[in-house]
Amino acid sequence: MKPVFVLLVSTAWTFTGAQDYYQGLMDYLENRLLAIEDRMQLWHEQSHRYHTELLDFKKLTVETMDGLRNQHSVMFKDLEGAAVRVDRVEREVDYVEIQTSPRACANKADKVVEQGAWRLKESRGQEEEEEDEEDEDWEELHSRVSDCVEIISGIRSVKILKRVGSPKGMWTRDPRSSKVYVFNGTSGDNLFQFNSVRDFSRSPGVTSSRHIRLPSDWRGPGSTVYDGYLYYIQQEENADVQVVKFDLLTGSVTDAAMFPVESHATVYNLNPETVADLAADDEGLWLLYATSDSEPNIHLAKMDRASLDIEHIWDTRCPRENAEAAFVVCGTVYVVYNTRLASRSRIQCLFDVNDMVSSEEAPLIYFPRRYGAHASLKYNPEEQQLYAWDDGYQIIYRLTMKTKLLV
Ligand SMILES: *[C@@H]1O[C@H](CO)[C@@H](O)[C@H](O)[C@H]1NC(C)=O
Repeated sequence: MKPVFVLLVSTAWTFTGAQDYYQGLMDYLENRLLAIEDRMQLWHEQSHRYHTELLDFKKLTVETMDGLRNQHSVMFKDLEGAAVRVDRVEREVDYVEIQTSPRACANKADKVVEQGAWRLKESRGQEEEEEDEEDEDWEELHSRVSDCVEIISGIRSVKILKRVGSPKGMWTRDPRSSKVYVFNGTSGDNLFQFNSVRDFSRSPGVTSSRHIRLPSDWRGPGSTVYDGYLYYIQQEENADVQVVKFDLLTGSVTDAAMFPVESHATVYNLNPETVADLAADDEGLWLLYATSDSEPNIHLAKMDRASLDIEHIWDTRCPRENAEAAFVVCGTVYVVYNTRLASRSRIQCLFDVNDMVSSEEAPLIYFPRRYGAHASLKYNPEEQQLYAWDDGYQIIYRLTMKTKLLV
């Protein structure tokens, strides 16, 4: 019996020992699981919190975005309003300028200014005319040019053809042919000839042109071409201005005449490179110039195209100050003004050698808004259009005309 008891006891002991051991393990595991559960609960709570926070943040962002968007559209509306106001102010300034401008008027022709030294007719061996013959001379001119009775009434259209060359330059068409001439820059001894405006606009750069070299430099964008002849301004350093007539067909100088003006006076205050400005039409060769730096007005001389004799001289009473360019239509000079910070060019002074344009019909014409400022404006009487050079762009302005009121 004794061994059985011992075995029982030992088994019981062993059994209770194992049970204790497993119980301990279970307790341990349970604790661990509880701890993990706790932690999971914590994570869950945390992730829930994060999620909520994220949602809140998202809501906030959306609200902020909406706010910004609203502010943006408010600002945009404000800007639009400001642009409209600026436009209105600009128009008002234009209007005020029109109302107050002392130059939006036509100037009556002065009697011919007679200056013996400038009568280059002597070079042709003619006698100085008598004082009393002057009126006849005047009448003759008057009747001769009065069959041209058109003045500009507006700018019909603009065509931007091309951009070639420097910001400053000039281009023009011979009114007697279709040929186009391009003068790049503000001086040089060369120019480019194209067969037509179309050839010029189709040409890559100036490659399809005839390159013409002159025996001397042209100075300033003031040249003109008429009936196969080029008339250009030549001025050596500190020397007198000369008008040179060049035969484009034969490539030779046919004539030249001195023009004794002060060497540093230039005709348009806003384009100081334009020493003097030539224009040729049926009536002859017109020269716009400044007599000296201290003389505030633009002067006009009419020359004989064939001989380069000076026939008449006028003070146009159009100021050089803020003048950008000018051109001659039917014996009337149109001076174009601008501001130093280029804004809108406008024809604001005109001068009729025939005294036929009255102040009431003198138009104040604005050019369309452009890139920069006109370096030159060349009028073609055949097509009634202007060849303009604006910041390297070649532009054509087509004009509308009306008949002068005959008085
Ligand atoms: C025009 O002249 C400028 C310099 O004044 C020069 O750089 C340019 O190459 C010239 N363009 C042409 C087409 O000759």
